[in-house]
Amino acid sequence: MKKPEYQILVCNSYRVAGDAQGACNKKGASDLLQYMQEEAVDRGLDVAVTSTACLNVCAQGPVMVIQPNNYWYGGIDSEEKIDEILDALEKNSAAEEYLISD
Ligand code: FES
Repeated sequence: MKKPEYQILVCNSYRVAGDAQGACNKKGASDLLQYMQEEAVDRGLDVAVTSTACLNVCAQGPVMVIQPNNYWYGGIDSEEKIDEILDALEKNSAAEEYLISD
């Protein structure tokens, strides 16, 4: 198996027991996950898009993380913001405006 160049983690608020109920899921992360997957494929990016459990920065949701760059994005609540993130990734850089600060 060839490993992807990037992994995009999209928080979908999964919990150990029960349904996803956290902040990111309530703010529409599941729809955005699908858009992210489709858009990454359309652009020919070598990425694996994965939905995750809570990443513990709920107040800043919906949250997405791009590895290995360690870009943590918050407030990603629209397709336009995902487009900006992927535009930046194509240049191997970050969409600075949406980065979560330490
Ligand atoms: S539910 Fe997404 S960071 Fe907690």
